[in-house]
Amino acid sequence: MKQILLILAVVTTLVSCQDKKPEVLDTAGKNATIETILTRRSIRKYTDQQVTKSQLDTILKCALYAPSALNKQSWEIRVVKNPKLLEEINKRYVSVARAQLASGVELKGSAARAANPGFSVFHGAPILIVLAQDTANSYSSVDMGILSENILLSAKALGLGTCPIGSVVPTFRDPKNVDLLEPLHFSDGYRVGLTIALGYPAEDQKSQRAFF
Ligand SMILES: Cc1cc2nc3c(=O)[nH]c(=O)nc-3n(C[C@H](O)[C@H](O)[C@H](O)COP(=O)(O)O)c2cc1C
Repeated sequence: MKQILLILAVVTTLVSCQDKKPEVLDTAGKNATIETILTRRSIRKYTDQQVTKSQLDTILKCALYAPSALNKQSWEIRVVKNPKLLEEINKRYVSVARAQLASGVELKGSAARAANPGFSVFHGAPILIVLAQDTANSYSSVDMGILSENILLSAKALGLGTCPIGSVVPTFRDPKNVDLLEPLHFSDGYRVGLTIALGYPAEDQKSQRAFF
C-alpha cells in the first residue's frame, strides 16, 4: 500500500511539473525585481550622456547593501569618470593586446578586437566602476560577485546599462601599471577583482537565454 501511495505521489508531481509553466516565466511584468533580473543584459554600446550623481549614489548604496560573509564587506569600490584616466586605462590594455596579436598569440573576446580603430575595452562607457577585493579574505570573490550583481541590477532598474569587464583586470594588476592605481587609493592588501562599465545604453539587448 505504501509503495502504491509513493508511486502515485511521484506520478502526480511529474504530471503537475509538466502542466505548469515555470513560475519564473509567468511573473515577468508582475514583479519589478524579477522583471529587472530577467531583462538585464550586458550593454556594449553607450551614449555620451553622463550618469547623474543621484543615480550613482543609488547604485553605490545598493552595492553596499550586498550581503557578505561574516559581514566583512571585503571590497572597496571606486568610480572612474575622468576621461583622461579612462583613455589611459584603455591605452594600456590595447598596447598589451596588440603586442600579443603581433607576436601571433591567438586572442579571444575583446582582446581579439583590440587592434580595431576606436576600440574600447569598456565599450566606450563614460564610467568604469573598479572593484577591489581583500586578498586575505577567502570569501572576497563571492562577496564581490554578489556586490557586482547589485550594481548591475540597480543600474538596470534606473534605466542604465552595464557590462562586467574582466578583461581589464590584468591591466590593473600589472606592476608596470601601478600608476593607474595611484589615483584610486585602494587600501594595502586589496587588489582589483572586477570592473563594471556603466552608462546610458545605446543598444537594446534582448535575452539570449533558452530556458526550456
Ligand atoms: C566576471 C565577468 C567578466 C566579464 N568580462 C567581460 C569583458 O571583459 N568584456 C565583455 O564585453 N563582457 C564581459 N562579461 C560579460 C559576459 O560576457 C556576459 O555577462 C555574458 O555573455 C552573458 O550575457 P548577459 O550579461 O547579457 O546576460 C563578463 C561577465 C562576467 C560575469
